[in-house]
Amino acid sequence: MAPRFLSVAQLQTGMVLAGDIIVSHSGLLLCSKGEVVGGPMIDKLRSWGIEYAAVEHNYDMRREETLEQVECLRQKVHDLFQAIVFRRSPELTGLTDAVEEMVISLDRLDLHFFRQALAQLKRKDGYTFVHCLEVGLGALLISRQLGCRREDMVHHCLGATLHDIGKLSLPRAILTNPGKLTEEEFDIVKHHPAIGIKVLKAAGMHHPLVLNAVAEHHERQDGLGYPYGRSCDQITLAGQITAVADVFFALLSDRPYRKAWCPLRTFEYIHSQKGIQFSHETADALIDSLSPLYLTGMRVLLSDGSSGTVEKVDPRLPHRPSVRLENHVVDLRNCPEIAVISA
Ligand SMILES: [Fe+2]
Repeated sequence: MAPRFLSVAQLQTGMVLAGDIIVSHSGLLLCSKGEVVGGPMIDKLRSWGIEYAAVEHNYDMRREETLEQVECLRQKVHDLFQAIVFRRSPELTGLTDAVEEMVISLDRLDLHFFRQALAQLKRKDGYTFVHCLEVGLGALLISRQLGCRREDMVHHCLGATLHDIGKLSLPRAILTNPGKLTEEEFDIVKHHPAIGIKVLKAAGMHHPLVLNAVAEHHERQDGLGYPYGRSCDQITLAGQITAVADVFFALLSDRPYRKAWCPLRTFEYIHSQKGIQFSHETADALIDSLSPLYLTGMRVLLSDGSSGTVEKVDPRLPHRPSVRLENHVVDLRNCPEIAVISA
């Protein structure tokens, strides 16, 4: 289908460029075909006096399909959670079908828009509910990055979406306690992976990848996790994927006891915990697959007083990205004297 030519004023976040944008008098490549439009890109085009850009024609269809998928998933998880809270027998077929559908259409979805839609849901739905959707999406992208088979991607996503289902059966006073839990309360919380397994088995879910994701999402590589204290290879891939996605999205969220971390600090933390809390393989896959969604295009202020937008992230040094300044790119991997001071 032919691209659409839009004025820069008509560009919207999430659209995809259908061609390179080059400064005519100097030949400087400003943006490349396939890049996703964001606020910083629009600012850059304006500052270079660019008036028009070609975007992929199917932009609206992609957004529409993405929104449908988010809404379908939200509804299925909502129904499931309600059934458990009100002690009705939960039904998993609807959610399994919705995840299968999402995996099949994953390449057509607008993941930037998916992320924004989840962020909006966070304002009206409870933390645990939206956190489960985020961890499910994260696990799906990590699983794809690791080259897993489509069937395994479905079950990694399903297991991660259901990882905290056991929490719904914990006393409400513990779940809604904004302060630090007592030792006794934390001992009760530690039962939620086992409770989750019980709930899922009672609902007819016996797939090992799904059960492993739920059972092992608080296990750590160093053996200091719970409930089993497993370490390294004793933790299944499904458990490793869910564990790293769970911590990543928890850190990015406001909690009663702390503010949300900025994405750059969160990626740096995930990187620093390789081999301690998370496996190297799954932490790298998370950084590879999620940094384009959370870091690329982000505005940052550098310690030398300059500011720009994150252009590229090296998964081995996620806190030292390449940053596009007004008319050049600085690769912070090669500039140890410059740090990102705010994002
Ligand atoms: Fe949990």
